[in-house]
Amino acid sequence: MTKVDDTSSGRPRGNDAAGKARTSRRGFLAGAAGLAAAGAAAPALGNPKNQPPNVADWTKALGDGVATRPYGHPSQFEKEVVRRDVQWLTASRESSVSFTPLHELDGIITPNGLCFERHHSGIAEVDPADYRLMIHGLVDKPLLFTLDDLKRFPRVNKIYFLECAANSGMEWRGAQLNGCQYTHGMVHCVMYTGVPLKVLLEEAGLKSNAKWIMAEGGDAAAMNRSVPMAKALEDCIVAYRMNGEMLRPENGYPARLVVPGWEGNMWVKWLRRIKVGDEPWFTREETSKYTDLLESGKARQFTWVMDAKSVITSPSPQVAKVRKGFTIVSGLAWSGRGTVKRVDVSLDGGRNWREARIDGPVFDKACVRFYYEFDWNGQPLLLQSRAIDSTGYVQPSKDDLRKVRGVNSIYHNNGIQTWHVKADGEVENVEVG
Ligand code: MTE
Ligand code: CO
Repeated sequence: MTKVDDTSSGRPRGNDAAGKARTSRRGFLAGAAGLAAAGAAAPALGNPKNQPPNVADWTKALGDGVATRPYGHPSQFEKEVVRRDVQWLTASRESSVSFTPLHELDGIITPNGLCFERHHSGIAEVDPADYRLMIHGLVDKPLLFTLDDLKRFPRVNKIYFLECAANSGMEWRGAQLNGCQYTHGMVHCVMYTGVPLKVLLEEAGLKSNAKWIMAEGGDAAAMNRSVPMAKALEDCIVAYRMNGEMLRPENGYPARLVVPGWEGNMWVKWLRRIKVGDEPWFTREETSKYTDLLESGKARQFTWVMDAKSVITSPSPQVAKVRKGFTIVSGLAWSGRGTVKRVDVSLDGGRNWREARIDGPVFDKACVRFYYEFDWNGQPLLLQSRAIDSTGYVQPSKDDLRKVRGVNSIYHNNGIQTWHVKADGEVENVEVG
């Protein structure tokens, strides 16, 4: 696009409330092309031989036939869109985490191959023929289900976010990792297909003193967590599909527990056993881990719900520099207590807030996508977003969160993130006092 054509612009030129001239989107794009010609930083302009009015290489020859790619992959030009890990964070790769590239995604659904993974003892490769789910303990009849058995129960489809309790855990003592993939990438949002846990528990028949379940994984960690019966009966799912296809091994193939709105640790993968009891099991994951040490030396325990949180995914440090003119701020918000009612965006570190536009479906305990469009005049920005959920809860600033939680915590950091957009358009992870 090399010609400035204001008359056909999607947005007219005009003045904003502060009286500053706004540039049109077209003007911005044309300006970018002009800059590039002058040798300033701008996106690669590519090879003119492949651009109109010339005939491109890919038009001159037949492409690959059907089924040459039996399972489709993204374009070769999208190879940077991958999960990444931070090697110094953990001692081994088996007990570690890879992060969702949030800055490269849009909408609310995370593609299966990009969902962050968190394993305590690596990926279990479970043969579905040998897969069994055992339900026992305080039930009338202990049961063993094969995968086919699970598929023969009436099923539900639900879109939920899953956030690791440790998401943003590295940021408690100040800004540390430069990119939303690392600061917020322990979240994903997919559609699950599976059987309501309630249906399976009723099949086994609950004893009158059945108050808790313990869910255990079939991985080398045999990771296990206690879940109160009320939650187990309310909305938990034994899921075997994500986004239509079978779960990926990384995410618990062939079946995992879905615990909507609650910390990711409870979503036991490679689910092999559910024991019904009358009290919690106080497993490692709910005593030494996944508790929140306070300033007083006491720790909060059983802090299951993931409170409302949001992050601006673009602009953000891993994305190309921001350029003057029409700018789209885009991000994700979610709440473990219900739906996201509103998202606000600040350009000045939280002094002034403007309502963002939520676009796309809004589901209970799922991510929503928000946008805020404005014309950037090159003045440095302190970009923030805050989510407000259906309970009226407002995502807190990091300072407000620290007043209650101190800085000893690892888990449940849902404080407001700040991105500093510098005059040259570079973006950095910072904190405002
Ligand atoms: N289940 C088992 N069996 N083993 C594990 O290591 N990790 C838990 C949970 N379920 C884990 C598990 C943690 S801490 C999180 S955050 C989620 O799985 C991550 O799910 P994902 O890998 O699908 O993103
Ligand atoms: Co986790």
